[in-house]
Amino acid sequence: MEKKKFYITTPIYYPSDKLHIGHTYCTVAADALARYKRLTGCDVMFLTGTDEHGQKIEDKAKEAGCTPKEFVDNIVEGEHGVLDLWKLMNISNDRFIRTTDDYHVAAVQRIFKKMYEKGDIYKGTYKGKYCKPCESFWTESQLVDGKCPDCGREVQDAEEEAYFFRLSKYADRVQHLLEDTDFLQPRSRVNEMVNNFIKPGLEDLCVSRTSFSWGVPVDFDPGHVVYVWVDALFNYTTALGLFNDRYHDYDQYWPADVHLVGKEIVRFHSIIWPAMLMSMEMPLPKHVFGHGWLLLDGGKMSKSKGNVVDPYILAEKFGVDALRFFLMRTFPFGSDGNFSNELLIQTINVDLANDLGNLLSRTTAMVGKYFGGTLPEGCRTCANPEACDGELRDMATALRGAYENAMESFAPHNALAEIFKVIQRANKYIDETAPWALAKDMEHNGARLAHVLYNLLEATRICGILLSPFIPASAEKIFDQIGACDGCRTWESAAQWGSLTETAVVTKGENLFPRIDADKALAELEELEAEARKAALPPVEFEPFTEEAVDFDTFCKSDFRVVKVKACEAVKKSAKLLKFTLDDGTGVDRQILSGVHAYYEPEELTGKTLVAIVNLPPRKMMGQESCGMLLSAVHTEHGEEKLHLVMLDDSIPAGAKLC
Ligand code: MSP
Repeated sequence: MEKKKFYITTPIYYPSDKLHIGHTYCTVAADALARYKRLTGCDVMFLTGTDEHGQKIEDKAKEAGCTPKEFVDNIVEGEHGVLDLWKLMNISNDRFIRTTDDYHVAAVQRIFKKMYEKGDIYKGTYKGKYCKPCESFWTESQLVDGKCPDCGREVQDAEEEAYFFRLSKYADRVQHLLEDTDFLQPRSRVNEMVNNFIKPGLEDLCVSRTSFSWGVPVDFDPGHVVYVWVDALFNYTTALGLFNDRYHDYDQYWPADVHLVGKEIVRFHSIIWPAMLMSMEMPLPKHVFGHGWLLLDGGKMSKSKGNVVDPYILAEKFGVDALRFFLMRTFPFGSDGNFSNELLIQTINVDLANDLGNLLSRTTAMVGKYFGGTLPEGCRTCANPEACDGELRDMATALRGAYENAMESFAPHNALAEIFKVIQRANKYIDETAPWALAKDMEHNGARLAHVLYNLLEATRICGILLSPFIPASAEKIFDQIGACDGCRTWESAAQWGSLTETAVVTKGENLFPRIDADKALAELEELEAEARKAALPPVEFEPFTEEAVDFDTFCKSDFRVVKVKACEAVKKSAKLLKFTLDDGTGVDRQILSGVHAYYEPEELTGKTLVAIVNLPPRKMMGQESCGMLLSAVHTEHGEEKLHLVMLDDSIPAGAKLC
């Protein structure tokens, strides 16, 4: 029988900065769903990638002093880049698209042309604000205090030739799609789209730009590049082979079963995307699911706010599976959730270390201790069954159905909640049956004890199967510890009580999720995060060069002289100031106070040859007179200011003028 197809996508990420835990959240969810679908026997295509064009990338590359392609290559393929992160997080994507890939660029050009030839894309005028010195177009909302966001200068009204997509033409069909089908989920997002965007009237969408060049060129009109969202959205189809020879899976997998996207890009996916597909006369994706955000201190994480959480740090500290599990277990997928390290540690300790970890380690340890690691033949049945046996069995066999319902409705958090009900029931079963008490009289209770332990292995096995999409590496270890054969790790066997071979070899292995000392871990995390923040800062920064010119005569008025340090001491009650007694060549000592104590101890400076400006008017600092200023060089390193007094060759005599 042909396998059922399932095509799932994540958004393609902007490689303008390193990805953070918020990006990881969506990709882990997509991965869990993809793995679940594979487990159920589907033929899955799971796509992720990067969205590499646009002005933001062009600007960032300029800042970094490289080409846009070099810039994105580094963030995508470089150390700790996007590809590294997905590998670390055990993401099982079948394909990875980069919108700078040639096949995608050429396909987008054909798509754009097709919509143009159909009349759905037409040339018009884009009205905006123009900054002449920067040669940049801005929309009203991009301005800062009504001025150019780049240089702060006045802008003027301007018009630019641009292509527009007839979004308005598709408004009714899109509204019907949103209101009358289950295309957009969760349902709560439908009203927002219809009321905020469709009902006020959908305007045609500007789909080309001429103000920057880092994009897919409109091949029939040089100077125009395709709007980044048109380029980006079609990735879902070009990655399957639409209008290219790189891949040949379009007919197999399109339309997508679901696009998982964050809530702020639901508009692009549920209005613009279907409208463009309608224009292209292509089938529409079956679902778009808009998930919530991970918030930090109640606000959105963003690089510019400096409050992003680094998945590398968390994965290294707590393990990849623990992090994956936390993301899926804690936050209802359709809503926002507040991320915190405390919550992460608590979830690991309660669910993984305590509930799951204890069930596995107690069960395997008891099979080892009482039966040498292998239960006797016949342990599947029991001469004197108790009510709790039936309860555990019924809950465990019913689990797959409840889990499936949750997964099919994009509620992985509910699927995990169902699993943990069974795990908790199994732990309670241990207390109820008290295997250690049974073990005291093996002659009479040995068969009962073997049955109890078999039941525990079975409950663990079923939970392990259903946990495997979330914690794939740990699930394998669970199977190995309980001796599960290949046939009893399957989706089918997750609904069949009694699948485990009675005489499976059980081994108490490593503790999969050790308990975390919260205080210690939090302190360590704080340190690691502070280090990472520092490392992320540009290593060395300098004051921008002054643009204002100074005329030569004014410059010559500044009298710079070579001075020798005769004595140097800290100024009492001042943390910063040092008092210098200087030989300036006049024969009369000169006193200068300078705020350099954070960088030098007074003893280091005695005898040094420095430079001072000597014709500044004297000023009092901490009650003492300072006649001039010592010259120093300043820069910022890892966010910290560094200062170096200008020191000259000691052979230069005091009093020599610098010119
Ligand atoms: N490039 C576009 C997507 C184009 S898809 C055709 C984009 N990229 S993005 O890198 O800015 O964001 C990618 C996804 O990450 C979005 O779905 C966004 O919602 C998600 N997240 C970014 N920060 C997030 C959180 N803090 N929490 C959860 N998801 C968030 O948009």
